[in-house]
Amino acid sequence: MSSKIKVDILIINASELLTCNTINKKPKTGKELSNLGIIKNGAIAIKDGKIVFIGKTSDVRKKIISAKQTIDAKNKVVMPGFVDCHTHAIFAGSRENEFLKKLQGVSYLNILKAGGGILSTVQKTRKASKEELFQAGKERLLKMLEYGTTTIEIKSGYGLTFKDEKKILEIASMLEKNTPLDIIKTYLGAHTVPKNTSKEKYIKEILSSLEKIKSHAEFCDVFCEKEIFSIEETKKILTYAKQLGFKLKLHSEQCTTLHSAELAGSLKAISADHLEHVSPSGIQALKKNNVIGVLLPGVSFYLMGDKYAPARELINKGVAIAIASDFNPGSCPSYNMQLMISLACLKMKLTPSEAINAATINAAFAIDRAHEVGSLEIGKKADVIILEIDNHNKLPYFFGINLVETVVKNGKIII
Ligand code: NIG
Ligand code: FE
Repeated sequence: MSSKIKVDILIINASELLTCNTINKKPKTGKELSNLGIIKNGAIAIKDGKIVFIGKTSDVRKKIISAKQTIDAKNKVVMPGFVDCHTHAIFAGSRENEFLKKLQGVSYLNILKAGGGILSTVQKTRKASKEELFQAGKERLLKMLEYGTTTIEIKSGYGLTFKDEKKILEIASMLEKNTPLDIIKTYLGAHTVPKNTSKEKYIKEILSSLEKIKSHAEFCDVFCEKEIFSIEETKKILTYAKQLGFKLKLHSEQCTTLHSAELAGSLKAISADHLEHVSPSGIQALKKNNVIGVLLPGVSFYLMGDKYAPARELINKGVAIAIASDFNPGSCPSYNMQLMISLACLKMKLTPSEAINAATINAAFAIDRAHEVGSLEIGKKADVIILEIDNHNKLPYFFGINLVETVVKNGKIII
């Protein structure tokens, strides 16, 4: 017999309440990825920032004495806030000049080789003050919140010196304190080799900064790519990072097949991200070692590539996949996780249900936060969004439109 309680917020009359709840507290794979755990005519009760009841509207109402605030969802979809598990959200400037080059057919790696791309953002980011970077970051994060993102991973990687990388990670901490979003920090000193130094010297510098950077970031990531960081170099950096207690991520198999997915497997990384060029043995390694494949359809789309990560094959082989925006100034300047879900369906042939689970609960697993966010379950943070649609298939069907009507983060109504 459960006793009746007073709650802070009660959301009722959801046409579909997408719980995205997990079985066995594991990322969703295979057929389970299609299961959104839908409760029709659902309701959810929130107290002290957490979810306290969830079920049919009639059942939840029976358990509540009073709610400080009741939101009538009026037959709309209610679901967990999006978890954007791969972004590069702190940087200065923009790169619309490259956009024009790209339209003329210059490739992403060739722009970078010519000193543009990441390196041009590094130049601007180093020059920017902490306050400027903080304000720019804050504006971006608040926009993401409008699009329904309530948790975000942020990588450094536009500093490429100990001092500048630390500055970016400190700004991420400031953003965590000064915006409603939860922020997970990743050190990506190995994003590329800075100008005026050799790769050998720079790797030494990264290795010697790792211990000092440890208190500023939970994850360590490397851009493992032809002419950026090789398999051996990536292994060296990530092996030491692991020894120091970092959790691991890789920018893996984006432009070429280097077999970094196999490396992600042997290092027991939490995720391998991109995977446009992953090989069959790479897929096997991800599966065997429970590495989550973070897919970034916005990047293939924006770089005008015809190669998307083989999502169906990954799912068929039992790899857990997540979807993220990879928000950054070069290869995906978009705040919109709803658009990423549309692209995952249109370009990678995910079903709407699979894409929604990939952008919520599986994305939470990819940043080791599935115990707190990513699904609507009792005890988890009350990160809830209401969309102005009556069924979940309309989420990817509408394209590039912001369908978010209400955002509740940590039990507070933000929008
Ligand atoms: O994930 N691939 C490397 N890094 C980013 C792009 C960063 C940039 O172009 O500024 C990515 O796509
Ligand atoms: Fe990235």
